[in-house]
Amino acid sequence: MLLGECTGGHGIATGGLERGLCTNQLPGARQRARRWRVRPCVCELGMRSTTERPLTSTIDDAAVELIVAVAQERVIGLEGGHLGLPWHIPEDLKHFKKRTLGHTLIMGRKTHEAIGRALPRRRNLVLTRSGHVFEGCESIASLSEAIETAHASGERPIIAGGASVYKKALATNAPYPVTTIHLTEVDRAVAGDAFFPTLGPEFKVVERRAGKSEGITFVTLVRVN
Ligand SMILES: NC(=O)c1ccc[n+]([C@@H]2O[C@H](COP(=O)([O-])OP(=O)(O)OC[C@H]3O[C@@H](n4cnc5c(N)ncnc54)[C@H](OP(=O)(O)O)[C@@H]3O)[C@@H](O)[C@H]2O)c1
Repeated sequence: MLLGECTGGHGIATGGLERGLCTNQLPGARQRARRWRVRPCVCELGMRSTTERPLTSTIDDAAVELIVAVAQERVIGLEGGHLGLPWHIPEDLKHFKKRTLGHTLIMGRKTHEAIGRALPRRRNLVLTRSGHVFEGCESIASLSEAIETAHASGERPIIAGGASVYKKALATNAPYPVTTIHLTEVDRAVAGDAFFPTLGPEFKVVERRAGKSEGITFVTLVRVN
């Protein structure tokens, strides 16, 4: 289990009276769980009464996750590809769904347009400076604001691309540094026009698991400083 997660894999509230409670059991999350038809978490961190809540916690106060699939030469996208991707790997799409269901996705406008719809049973925050509103999504004009929007609702923000958003999120001066990266290694040489930045030494691999599809490895990295 990673720091900052309950036993059900959900974030833990970091402020106010709800500090220390599973974010998937707070009132707003329960309503969203009903709307998205996902089961609310039943871990012990939501069952405590107010007086039993821990005064301190070992929680990462600003969890920001990022999910990406990267091929050789750091390729992540190709205009005109399937969902904007230069490959079609159902196992990775399932992995993406499992990791993001019930959470808040943050993505650039071009990535949203490549997907072509709001992803169901997740809150979709689309970054755009145009002010345009996309069906089933919330438009937000900056990455910081999107992360703050998720945190303010006790939700876990997961940055889902594309290239420009990853670059901004992983910049050394990012106001809300990425704390966890779910990276799918796609060991294939593919043509692409969008690339993932090189990760610095601040990220350490904590889990590495071979997928069933050829050349696919699921890697989890966490920020260590
Ligand atoms: N392999 C993967 O895991 C993966 C995941 C996601 C995406 N991708 C790929 O990445 C490619 C798209 O990447 P991209 O860099 O071209 O586009 P993008 O990052 O998806 O979208 C860029 C647009 O998002 C908005 N935006 C970005 N940063 C912003 C900020 N800080 N504040 C406000 N708005 C912001 C702007 O929209 P406006 O112009 O409307 O203002 C900008 O033009 C596609 O090929 C896609 O398939 C790959």
